[in-house]
Amino acid sequence: MSRVLITSALPYANGPIHIGHLVEHVQTDVWARFRRLMGDEVLHLCADDTHGTGIELNARKEGITPEELVARSQREHERDFAAFGINFDSYYTTNSPENQELANLIYHALKDGGHIERKSSMQMYSESLGRFLPDRWVKGTCPKCGTPDQYGDQCGNCNTTYEPADLINPVDAIEGKTPVLRETEQLYVRLADFVGELERWVPEGVPQPAVRNFVDRWMEAGLADWCISRDAPYFGFEIPGETGKYFYVWLDAPVGYIATTKQLCDARGMNWRDWWDAGSDAEIVHVIGKDIVYFHTLFWPAMLHAAGLKQPSRVQAHGFLTVAGEKMSKSRGTFIRAEVWAEHLDPSYLRFYYATKLGNGIDDMDLNLEDFVNRVNSDLVNNAVNLASRVTKFIAARFDGQVCDFETANHPLCDDVASAVDQYRALMQDWDIRGATRLIAELGDKVNTYFQEAAPWALIKTDPAAAQECCSAALHAATVLMTLLSPIVPDVAAKYADAIGVDVLGLEHTSPAWRPALVAAPDSIISRVQPAAVDAVIEASKQAPTDDAVDDTSSADLEAIKPEISFDDFSKVDLRIGKVVSASEVEGARKLLQLTVDIGREINVFAGIRQAYPDPAVLVGASVVVVANLAPRKMRFGVSEGMLLATSAADDSGLQLVQVDPSALAGWTVR
Ligand code: MSP
Ligand code: ZN
Repeated sequence: MSRVLITSALPYANGPIHIGHLVEHVQTDVWARFRRLMGDEVLHLCADDTHGTGIELNARKEGITPEELVARSQREHERDFAAFGINFDSYYTTNSPENQELANLIYHALKDGGHIERKSSMQMYSESLGRFLPDRWVKGTCPKCGTPDQYGDQCGNCNTTYEPADLINPVDAIEGKTPVLRETEQLYVRLADFVGELERWVPEGVPQPAVRNFVDRWMEAGLADWCISRDAPYFGFEIPGETGKYFYVWLDAPVGYIATTKQLCDARGMNWRDWWDAGSDAEIVHVIGKDIVYFHTLFWPAMLHAAGLKQPSRVQAHGFLTVAGEKMSKSRGTFIRAEVWAEHLDPSYLRFYYATKLGNGIDDMDLNLEDFVNRVNSDLVNNAVNLASRVTKFIAARFDGQVCDFETANHPLCDDVASAVDQYRALMQDWDIRGATRLIAELGDKVNTYFQEAAPWALIKTDPAAAQECCSAALHAATVLMTLLSPIVPDVAAKYADAIGVDVLGLEHTSPAWRPALVAAPDSIISRVQPAAVDAVIEASKQAPTDDAVDDTSSADLEAIKPEISFDDFSKVDLRIGKVVSASEVEGARKLLQLTVDIGREINVFAGIRQAYPDPAVLVGASVVVVANLAPRKMRFGVSEGMLLATSAADDSGLQLVQVDPSALAGWTVR
């Protein structure tokens, strides 16, 4: 038996749990339940991430204190996770005495080890608010493209990133007053001190090739110092030995993994150090989204190492959820809160659908609603569930709930069933939940065919003993199917377990020698997905687009980088400055604009940028970058003779054209 401590990333306490978060929590929960099924000791932990300016700003908007916001989020998050069967041993908070104590402990270790440095810089300060302003509290005109009303970290129009102090005419976002620049000193962790240690840890702790690739590139580029302090007022922990300095939220957030362990161990009379000391034999697994890989594979192992604590055995990253091929969107009704889903649709449906999609990679995964309905109905309800209810009902009705021995040697099912259990274990161990789900569906098909062809309802008339044997074998197969499904859809498995008189399905029930004492007809295990209920979820999720339309789902930092190309490959691309001559909507195309662009000659281009330009006329006269030598492409609406460079913004505003200084001349080469 091994010991495993497994976590999901700690959700921010300033917003609701949505179906994007649930990708991660379903993945973690399925895997934790799988390890329990295999007989391992598992601690499944999570907590709310409660500190930082985001929490403060949201509380302020609602006119409540950060503490009130944090308390409410905690209740709502716990309620939502419970509805989706996420089975935490503890769901705690980073705003706890344990977390403060442990954050201090790690900070002292970093400081005593000589890894903390002080540096001063000039930052925006509001005299009337009496505070330094975080990036998102400053607005002004973009220094690059001149768009007004942009946040202090990044321009929403041209996507340039900058410091708040670079903005033209900056004002604070709270009162609209002009801030001043003031010198301030901050604390930094010298991450480069840990390069040797990280080079040792990364190969074992970051096994997914795509993630490893990113981490290697960051290491090659050199590790910058990490700023871990913020000036008061800040909702968080004050840094010991400093005045008016607080830990930056990302310093104490991962410490929440340990603090939650400590809180649970204290309650259960265990010692958190048995899990976290450097010499511990426990496995530590962090499941995270691909946007927070840097924190978990560089900062966090360095912090743990400095404090003599155990580094993660595995950091397991996943991709981002899209709905119908696009980022979740409040206006389209695809920003679906967990609470709203659970009001209309059985959470088991979502768990199952995610399981059919979750592999070991970090590609984004799509929730296509039509595919969702079909897949859940065909691979779960009409498959294992239907078999389980038919077989149990038949045995209950015709054999008084009794099963009998059956010959396992050369049985058309038994070998397949046994080898499925072995394959399932290997796939799940490798985080191929998708593969395991496919395996279950294939086995389900086989058993259904067996049952249909054996036709015990006919056989019973001539040979009741043979009919009972066939039903007993089918029941064995159904029990295995439900056991393998139990980490994925525990509520479904529990109803079946109840019908065969078992408390919790375990590996012992997958042996062909195991027999239930009495089989009863189950209540409906789970019914088919109703497409109307899916429509209702979308309807209930539709909100008017708001001012700050940034969805609560952070945009992923890790766009997968395509394979390396040579300089020769690159030099084949002819990039020219083009001037937009005309731009108009395309009848019948939701995403396209048709543009005429002057690159020395006029070309016709179809570009999927309509969302960002409700009034295409604003583009006329814009200087854009054109791939001028792309082979013409025939589209439904005509021939497109070039491509335009565009970027996707972090919010939901769609692809935006990269624009260059309007004095640039059409047709000139970009260098
Ligand atoms: N609070 C930090 C994590 C601190 S861990 C010490 C955070 N919170 S979050 O609420 O923004 O995200 C929590 C987790 O949910 C992250 O792993 C994130 O990648 C994941 N997801 C958030 N939106 C998601 C999707 N749309 N799709 C898949 N996962 C998503 O980051
Ligand atoms: Zn700009």
